[in-house]
Amino acid sequence: MTTMESLIGLVNRIQRACTVLGDYGGDDNNTFSSLWEALPSVAVVGGQSSGKSSVLESIVGRDFLPRGSGIVTRRPLVLQLHKLEGGSQEYAEFLHLPRRKFTDFSLVRQEIQDETDRVTGKTKQISPIPIHLSIYSPYVVNLTLIDLPGLTKVAVEGQPESIVQEIETMVRSYVEKPNSIILAISPANQDIATSDAIKLAREVDPTGERTFGVLTKLDLMDKGTNALDVLEGRSYRLQHPWVGIVNRSQADINKNVDMIIARRKEREYFANSPDYGHLANKMGSEYLAKLLSQHLESVIRARIPSITSLINKSIEELESELDHLGRPIALDAGAQLYTILELCRAFERIFKEHLDGGRPGGDR
Ligand code: GDP
Ligand code: NA
Ligand code: MG
Repeated sequence: MTTMESLIGLVNRIQRACTVLGDYGGDDNNTFSSLWEALPSVAVVGGQSSGKSSVLESIVGRDFLPRGSGIVTRRPLVLQLHKLEGGSQEYAEFLHLPRRKFTDFSLVRQEIQDETDRVTGKTKQISPIPIHLSIYSPYVVNLTLIDLPGLTKVAVEGQPESIVQEIETMVRSYVEKPNSIILAISPANQDIATSDAIKLAREVDPTGERTFGVLTKLDLMDKGTNALDVLEGRSYRLQHPWVGIVNRSQADINKNVDMIIARRKEREYFANSPDYGHLANKMGSEYLAKLLSQHLESVIRARIPSITSLINKSIEELESELDHLGRPIALDAGAQLYTILELCRAFERIFKEHLDGGRPGGDR
């Protein structure tokens, strides 16, 4: 593993450990939530049915998200991807079920559904309390992605009118953080000027420096039209290139079209497209995953000084906290403190080696 890969992996693990104590998502200003927030993550935003879940599943290369019409995602899902060595067994783990390894991804889907209902009831309410899921696999890139409820303009049957505003407030609380990278999903078969994702991204990131525009459903555009104005940045300019995507259609999903086959079909779609052929190597979900991981890497690189000082501060606070372990503190919390402390020290050590003329990209 390269130094940088192991750094992103470490950032992932520190974020994960912090969440146990840090109550991320609330306004708590403790060490752990500020550390969490100093570390970048990718928030997925878009209107309902714009293709958010499909894009996430393509990036992971697995079916594991609940689906259906209406508001399916009703709690934020903090999804951490951890790259394993080739040949390792792929598995998933929830923070709320620490001792259980999921190797059957349909059970992951069921557990997300059950855990959503546990907090929200089955009433289609939403809750800002995140579900934390980690996926360990040789086929993923190191990334933290946050799936959020879809933006909507009208409440569906059985939901209070206030839900429209509640969803917007929740999504906004994630994307307005300066360290948040915004994955703004818009469907190609709707006018980009009406995109909920772009509307919100424009408000919180007017220069477009932390927004990645993703255009889904290219295959569903009317015959004779294409999305080149959007993909080539003429309709709405961002600092990063737009990425076009072709996810599985509902018919593909009903037929259980495998994710690997879907990725291949997506590659073929771009390679053979008269409209997009010249952009083929910069389109599709695999390219998007690499682009995001690279960007995350450069953001972490740029923030090395501020992250290191925050980590030093955390180490001090953690050490003094551990000194006072005499006072009532949950056993699990104590163990988590040690974990974070160890990870922070590892992070500091790798940084030092990386900076002290360590060979960038050398093997660790
Ligand atoms: P979400 O509500 O934003 O999470 O959207 P989903 O990922 O659940 O997708 C909503 C519906 O659109 C599903 O039936 C998908 O199969 C379909 N869909 C998403 N992306 C595409 C695409 O690129 N092409 C086609 N044909 N269908 C898509
Ligand atoms: Na949906
Ligand atoms: Mg969804």
